[in-house]
Amino acid sequence: MDFWDVVRSRHAVRDFTSDPIPREVLERIVEAAELAPSAMNSQPWRFYVATGETRLKLGRAIAQTTVHLSEYMDALGPERYEQAVKWYSSLGDAPAVVVVAMPRAEDEFTLLNEQLSVGAAIENLMLAATAEGLGSCNVTFSFWVRDDLADAVGAAENEDVVSIIALGYPGEVPPVAPPHDMTRVTYLD
Ligand SMILES: Cc1cc2nc3c(=O)[nH]c(=O)nc-3n(C[C@H](O)[C@H](O)[C@H](O)COP(=O)(O)O)c2cc1C
Repeated sequence: MDFWDVVRSRHAVRDFTSDPIPREVLERIVEAAELAPSAMNSQPWRFYVATGETRLKLGRAIAQTTVHLSEYMDALGPERYEQAVKWYSSLGDAPAVVVVAMPRAEDEFTLLNEQLSVGAAIENLMLAATAEGLGSCNVTFSFWVRDDLADAVGAAENEDVVSIIALGYPGEVPPVAPPHDMTRVTYLD
């Protein structure tokens, strides 16, 4: 796929087939993440790539986030609430889940640098996933169970889990491409 095909076809995928992702494919997409730019080349990311038993363990932890969904009931409405409960209960049966962690920042500037760097790495990972024919969804709703996720993957004491990425071959429900506003730019001479 050429660069623009990859960028234009990446959309959040929330339904996956049970087909396992070959290890070499997982390694290639993590390599793309590791090649991301980072503030002062700090490379503050840490990826835990979970399949098998660990993936199931993470799924059980993420399912606990559904208790927080009622707080978003007004914004979601009943139909999207139902969809969200299903999604967080199953993560679309994604065969792999990447837990993303970064060192706990001591100050605001470090936090800013770490967050932007990790965001760049996550986007590289998701674009590489698209190029490999995979679907992905970055999920920060993991926030509510971040300590359980850190325990499940054996994250270091000084690391915080910042998000998870569900990964797999897209399932039967095609991703609905939400509108993207192409006008949030100002060109200045
Ligand atoms: C920082 C970040 C956090 C996100 N958190 C969630 C989440 O918790 N749950 C979820 O279902 N999707 C999550 N998403 C996916 C977004 O909902 C999705 O990217 C957005 O609606 C735009 O859709 P698109 O990716 O298909 O273009 C997140 C995306 C980003 C970049």
